[in-house]
Amino acid sequence: MKRPVAYVAGTGRGIPAKVMTNHDFAALGLDTSHEWIFERTGIVERRIAAPEETTCSMAVTAAKQAMARAGVHAGELDAIVLSTATPDRLLPATAVDLQAQLGATRAAAFDLSAACTGWLYAMTVAEGLMHSGAIETALVVGAEKMSAITDWQDRSTCVLFGDGAGAVVLKRTQNGAHCGILSTFMRSDGTLAELLWRPAGGAAVPFSDAVLQDRTSYVKMAGREVFKHAVRQMSEACDRALDAAKLTGSDIDVLIPHQANNRIIEATAKHAGIPMDKVYVNVDRFGNTSSASIPIAIDEAFERGRLRPGSTALLCAFGAGFTWGSMVIRF
Ligand code: UT7
Repeated sequence: MKRPVAYVAGTGRGIPAKVMTNHDFAALGLDTSHEWIFERTGIVERRIAAPEETTCSMAVTAAKQAMARAGVHAGELDAIVLSTATPDRLLPATAVDLQAQLGATRAAAFDLSAACTGWLYAMTVAEGLMHSGAIETALVVGAEKMSAITDWQDRSTCVLFGDGAGAVVLKRTQNGAHCGILSTFMRSDGTLAELLWRPAGGAAVPFSDAVLQDRTSYVKMAGREVFKHAVRQMSEACDRALDAAKLTGSDIDVLIPHQANNRIIEATAKHAGIPMDKVYVNVDRFGNTSSASIPIAIDEAFERGRLRPGSTALLCAFGAGFTWGSMVIRF
């Protein structure tokens, strides 16, 4: 097992107040039901941002909480890495809005786009910057306003997603430390991009009246196909991170998988040999918040005593791209 280079010094989350239950979809005139959504996904409700709430505003709340808990002030941040599939605008990055609002005057700030796996990618990038000696302290955020890119007329996708942000302060370890990131794993397969994507609204097919009419700037997903890949790749991701840390499922105190679907979570836990009472699940209350899901779950797991200093956790995610990845971390 390698000596950890980076450790989590504090966690936080920024969650919209508005709760939307499965029953609320009836008011939108959608042909769906609580029973269908709950049986297929495990989702009961999700949070939806108010019009004035943005990806950045949720990130600010999460970041301030993580910094307070870490005892780190804005001037100490060397880098802000913000993972999002829902930037507030395409240029410049949402990370620089966060940098400005925090007053992090010494920090580099950039967005990272790897969909639901984005926060794990962001953690690995920040860890790498610490390994190279370029930085000492980073804010690593996953923030998503999925409700802004969801097609509220498409029952096959709009019932799945929710809004929110999670953040951690990551710091470079001192020599001889045993807590921190023990292993990481990242993969991608862009040949499958069209199974989960926003076909239009970027530089290749810019916004136009036709795009608005066709609704092609919203998320499209081939759910059943994505499901099969998610189960396979989340399992592979768990194996790779455990192997690299020279651990097995029985060494893991808590599995925190990306929260997209209870059935995917259960299949992943079974493959990793981790009983469900060691798996942190909040998809019932938040739905799929894309790259915010793991840092939100970590923050909650600490608050609820499911994670403690010294706990060894396995994190894994799968998302559009496809991208997938994992991490073993000792808190
Ligand atoms: O964030 C990472 C990436 N995303 C994921 O990991 C999500 C992966 N996929 C899934 O979680 C599941 O595939 C879904 C929850 C999206 C769908 O569950 P499924 O068991 O794969 O259902 P399905 O897509 O095969 O649809 C079954 C039926 C279809 O009707 P027919 O063709 O059998 O008559 C759908 O039209 O359910 C219908 N359906 C719905 N019915 C009621 C689709 N959405 C809904 C809905 N309410 N909201």
